[in-house]
Amino acid sequence: MTGAIPAAASLYERVRRVIPPIEWPAFTDDIDAILALKRERNAVILAHNYQTPEIFHCVADIVGDSLALARKAMAIDADIIVLAGVHFMAETAKLLNPHKTVLIPDVAAGCSLADSITPADVRLLRQRYPGVPVVTYVNTCATVKAESDICCTSGNALAVVESLGAPRVIMLPDEYLARNIAAQTRVDIIAWKGHCEVHERFTPGDIRELREAHPGLTVLAHPECPPNVVAEADFAGSTAAMSEYVGRIKPARVVLMTECSMSDNVAVEHPEVEFIRPCNLCPHMKRITLANIRSALEQNRHVVTIEAQIADRARQAVERMLAI
Ligand code: 13P
Ligand code: SF4
Repeated sequence: MTGAIPAAASLYERVRRVIPPIEWPAFTDDIDAILALKRERNAVILAHNYQTPEIFHCVADIVGDSLALARKAMAIDADIIVLAGVHFMAETAKLLNPHKTVLIPDVAAGCSLADSITPADVRLLRQRYPGVPVVTYVNTCATVKAESDICCTSGNALAVVESLGAPRVIMLPDEYLARNIAAQTRVDIIAWKGHCEVHERFTPGDIRELREAHPGLTVLAHPECPPNVVAEADFAGSTAAMSEYVGRIKPARVVLMTECSMSDNVAVEHPEVEFIRPCNLCPHMKRITLANIRSALEQNRHVVTIEAQIADRARQAVERMLAI
């Protein structure tokens, strides 16, 4: 550390609306250590929108949805990338930065969607639907991406599906994302049966109860929610699209039908908007903490590796998506 005032002290003003003063001292030591380690090791931290505010607003260099993190990962000028998010996001960063060290602070930060499908499942689907292109959500392992024609995120899924010019596509592994996209296109979509364990729990009844309890409420939903939830929402979009909607429309009262930290992170930017807070926690995203980000930088762990042959094929699917 240089100077008498710790860097963390000047950051509290940014997060004081979402982190109570009594909790803040528990974070400052790790924040100062991480800021120093980033400089020493020429490292950058990429953080997903579901990371907690002390990570998202106090130590991250690049934040966003899966698409933004992938795009921004292509232009990183640093030796080390720490991915504050889940494992598939760290793999995507590694695919796009094969010669850099990519670290994930907890290797067990998985995803129920990534766990719902294997490479053998994709090969079976291809056998069953010969010639039908495979669009794979980025929420999958590199081994599954390697079996795919192109990737998509919740932010570009419709554009990716329509870019193929095919009458029919296989879209995996998220059944609800696939059905939500099918409702917006003439392309015939064959879905898989994976679900996000966080978003599948929202129901249309939740939305009705919230609207009754909070008159004038604007409801935003992630497209991993079931289609009957999306149908009752005022807007559906990726985490970045929901954040952008709040900034543009500035609704008086809003609920984000998604992971809990999202509201905190967006609320920091928009003090004039009232956020209603029923939400569901993602246990995988919550495995990432300031303490394990610090250990990751101190001990150079956990290094993300992808077998070269898999990486070459998976990278093609990601790069095709990014070219759209
Ligand atoms: P976004 O790409 O919209 O940020 O979504 C990622 C994710 O894991 C949502 O559950
Ligand atoms: Fe996976 Fe759902 Fe968690 Fe996103 S919120 S990382 S889709 S389990």
